[in-house]
Amino acid sequence: MTKRFHLGWFTNFTADEWNGAFANGGSPWDGKFYVEIAQALERACFDYLMFEDKLSVSEAYGGATQVYLKHALGMVPKHDPAPLAAVIGAATSRLGIVATMSTMAYPPFLLARLCTTIDHIAQGRFGWNIVTSAENAAAQNFGLDKLPPRELRYEMAHEYMDLVYKLFDSWGPDAVVMDRESGTYADFTKVHPVNFEGKYFKSRGPLNTVRAPQGRPALVQAGGSPSGRDFAAKHADSIIAVNSSVEEMKAFRDDVRARAEGHGRNPDDIKVLYLVAPVLGETEKEARDKLARMRSGPLFIEYSLALMSAITDIDFSKYELDKPLPGRLVTNGEQGSLDAFQQFGSGKTLRELVQSSAGAVAAIELVGTPDQVADKMGEAMEAVGGDGFLITTQTQSISRQVVNDVTDGLVPALQRRGLVRTEYSHKTLRENLRAF
Ligand SMILES: Cc1cc2nc3c(=O)[nH]c(=O)nc-3n(C[C@H](O)[C@H](O)[C@H](O)COP(=O)(O)O)c2cc1C
Repeated sequence: MTKRFHLGWFTNFTADEWNGAFANGGSPWDGKFYVEIAQALERACFDYLMFEDKLSVSEAYGGATQVYLKHALGMVPKHDPAPLAAVIGAATSRLGIVATMSTMAYPPFLLARLCTTIDHIAQGRFGWNIVTSAENAAAQNFGLDKLPPRELRYEMAHEYMDLVYKLFDSWGPDAVVMDRESGTYADFTKVHPVNFEGKYFKSRGPLNTVRAPQGRPALVQAGGSPSGRDFAAKHADSIIAVNSSVEEMKAFRDDVRARAEGHGRNPDDIKVLYLVAPVLGETEKEARDKLARMRSGPLFIEYSLALMSAITDIDFSKYELDKPLPGRLVTNGEQGSLDAFQQFGSGKTLRELVQSSAGAVAAIELVGTPDQVADKMGEAMEAVGGDGFLITTQTQSISRQVVNDVTDGLVPALQRRGLVRTEYSHKTLRENLRAF
């Protein structure tokens, strides 16, 4: 029997495509547009819809906010995904919903309480994408002068996790008794303070929320550095990854699975989903033409470089387009995405890098008919060993049309091959992730 794989969709609570041929208006702030997207993904039996998030208006490209605000590109305006996750949770019944929240921004108690609340509203389908934040501008919105170095961020995040696990468990599974006879709603002997005192965090507990349906939300993480991978291997139910070849995908998965074993975990409890941006057409030519039109658009290079600047704090406006980058670039931000983009040693010019990796999205190229792309995804998964794909779009813009191309074209093609599920087998996100 063919081994099935998992599907997630990657987006953010940003303006949907507003000025293209199939644009919907660009004001999705009441959440209804994203509810419709979620319903389409649920129809296609996706594991989860995830919302990336950032906590600043970037000035990374050209030292100004201009390019980001002018184009509303993926980065700003960006509304808070947590309340949106609650709205989507209430309007769906099977799809997992993942929101990004930063350990830099939320006090652990508040985060544990919020995750628990949303997991109840979503009836056990909420996931938290754990990030430590990666931009100085975000750090400056929270009273810091600059972003702490990566190693310190992860050290703090490990302690943060120790505390939130204790908070999630501060209500026993059977604490709520609702016993009419004794007039008891909750049994106080099953609700415990945590009295946590760490190097960075301190909290008394217990939470004042009823234990979450999943106990703790499903945990998603995207660590790319060695300490990031280690963090993900220790905590995540699903790891989202940016790689630029099948070989890299396999090496990444083998590495995090080995690390998970080192932490005493069953590596099969972690699903690695790889970021891809399929371009679909009724014919291969149609898909290739579509991609070529996108890439030759007047703003594609600016879009792609501004996006890469925002996640790396590197100003790509200062490099010459028709020369290779001056050397291997390093960042205190998203090094993995930067490495996938810069293809160090390839000798490509900056323009060629943008054209070949589609900006921030670097993975196997998926361009063609639904059947062609489905075959390619199946082959990649067979070579890598699992566990699925995190689907997004070339410039992170979103419209009903691009989602429908996937849910109504690509997914049925994958289903015909037995590569993805045709119905949900479980109710909670964690159980669906572990179903195969
Ligand atoms: C698919 C994907 C999604 C990510 N989403 C976010 C996000 O929403 N917010 C954020 O601050 N960082 C996000 N990141 C960055 C990661 O949290 C992480 O910082 C990055 O992958 C670099 O790994 P490292 O921290 O181990 O160097 C994302 C990364 C990837 C690959």
